[in-house]
Amino acid sequence: MVNSIAEQKGHFYTIDEAINFDFETVKALQLKHLNAVRTLNGGAKYFKQAEGCTFIDYEGKKHLDMIGAVGVVSVGNNNETVWAGIKKCFDTKQFMMGAISYHNIAAAFAHNLSLVSPHQKLTKVGTATGGAEAIEGVIKLVKLAVRNKPEKTHILACVRGSFHGKTTGAVSVGGKEKWRAYQHPLMANVDHVPYGDAEKLETALRTGKYSAFFAEPIQGEGGIIVPPEGYLKKARELCTENDTYLVIDEIQAGCGRTGKFWCCEHEDIVPDCLTFAKGFSGGLIPFAGYNCTEELYNAAYGSIETCFHHTATYQENGLSCAAGLSSLIYFG
Ligand SMILES: Cc1ncc(COP(=O)(O)O)c(C=O)c1O
Repeated sequence: MVNSIAEQKGHFYTIDEAINFDFETVKALQLKHLNAVRTLNGGAKYFKQAEGCTFIDYEGKKHLDMIGAVGVVSVGNNNETVWAGIKKCFDTKQFMMGAISYHNIAAAFAHNLSLVSPHQKLTKVGTATGGAEAIEGVIKLVKLAVRNKPEKTHILACVRGSFHGKTTGAVSVGGKEKWRAYQHPLMANVDHVPYGDAEKLETALRTGKYSAFFAEPIQGEGGIIVPPEGYLKKARELCTENDTYLVIDEIQAGCGRTGKFWCCEHEDIVPDCLTFAKGFSGGLIPFAGYNCTEELYNAAYGSIETCFHHTATYQENGLSCAAGLSSLIYFG
């Protein structure tokens, strides 16, 4: 008879045991198996439960969630609408692997997202499992879209506080030296201009060599830096004049966090592409992606030569899209 894993390898914790762990057990396991230095130096607390804008620690003390769990739970912790959407998928045994088939929930999510896009002009959607992966997806989208434009050799992004995630492509377009350290060689042919400086942006874009300009509508990780009024509008104009795609990273500022659904709507602009993450699943399921114009999407993936160039196992995953769709319904 084959022994169970627990008999062969040692005690295997169950979910019930994990839910009822005391703090000392959690601490010992976490420091042994996960990033101990980060946990000890990052001011980590032990929260056991969360509801709305409240975290409850292991002693039963309530804490007010002042940052929406790093900008993730715009719809509140353990949002009932989002859980109900997820649960409905389980109750009805939905097929979840959107990457390999037509998919009802992914299609519905993309439709809803297009409806809330600036002026409803962004009708194509690419999904990912995290913000940095969404940014990588856009870098690739842009590179493929300009493959027949030999003059478009570079990408333009912002310094100093800009942040787009911590993968190699994301730190290459990011402006924080701290996160670029030890990652070299970074992605080649990325230039940076100071955030908020329309003159420097104009000088750079006039060279004609940039396929895309990446900017946050408000720099989040950089310290909540709001650009001068009119900057995004000017960036839109300059990108159009110089045949450069405007990519607005709404991962932190989007999803209703600044009073409009998308932060770039404060300047009433339509970017060629915007990225989303964090708030779109209420913190329950990793979900991110981009929303772009049909022109940009088709320039990249509208051919048989390139349509398979960006695939991923969890692309258009049903459960992620159900969480995203339910978040949108909650907002709506
Ligand atoms: C503007 C912006 N873009 C991208 C990211 C990266 O997202 P993720 O941490 O999910 O990779 C972040 C994360 O804070 C962000 O604030």
